[in-house]
Amino acid sequence: MITIQKADKSHVNGIIRVCTAGQWATYEDLYTKEYIERVIEEFYNPDRVLKEVSTSTKDWGGYFVAIDDGEVVGAGGGGMTGDDAGEVYVLYMDPDRRGEGVGTKLLEAITAQQKEFGARTQWVSVQKGNEKGIPFYRAKGFLYDSEQAGYANKEDEEYISVRYSRNV
Ligand SMILES: CC(C)(COP(=O)(O)OP(=O)(O)OC[C@H]1O[C@@H](n2cnc3c(N)ncnc32)[C@H](O)[C@@H]1OP(=O)(O)O)[C@@H](O)C(=O)NCCC(=O)NCCS
Repeated sequence: MITIQKADKSHVNGIIRVCTAGQWATYEDLYTKEYIERVIEEFYNPDRVLKEVSTSTKDWGGYFVAIDDGEVVGAGGGGMTGDDAGEVYVLYMDPDRRGEGVGTKLLEAITAQQKEFGARTQWVSVQKGNEKGIPFYRAKGFLYDSEQAGYANKEDEEYISVRYSRNV
């Protein structure tokens, strides 16, 4: 049985494993190897994830994890960006465990937390062309809002991220 729970330090390695595998599976056809490695190094290193499972504030509500048979199979988290606006910052399933409804449950947990903080809208940035993410958010009622320059753009990289939002 799969359970969704707030992550603690025992989940750090599992979060790193799922998010790293998720990065490669999601972006290897969209981005350069160097870019993906840079993102993994910055966001999914043990020090950072340990801090992020040890913090739960309005700005960052901490990680939620999906656990199956003691193993992390999905991870996600978000925070408030304004009085009534929540943001999903990260949401990845183990690439072998997509499409089982577990991402929906993780998003529900993040959403419930943000509603407690007063969210009435919820936002997410997705990389343009991410066909493993955008259809999920559309299925959950998110609508296109705008485009903006992606994370860590360098002169030779023209990655675009797309903003989506929904009422919650
Ligand atoms: C996005 C992600 C977290 C969704 O989790 P999941 O467990 O695979 O999704 P679910 O099984 O809960 O799917 C929920 C709905 O989205 C739809 N959906 C999900 N991925 C889809 C896809 N690639 N194409 C079409 N529909 C999709 C499902 O049909 C389902 O619709 P329904 O609720 O109407 O039946 C997961 O697929 C993933 O890790 N993707 C790659 C990483 C990524 O892009 N993350 C988002 C970046 S922030």
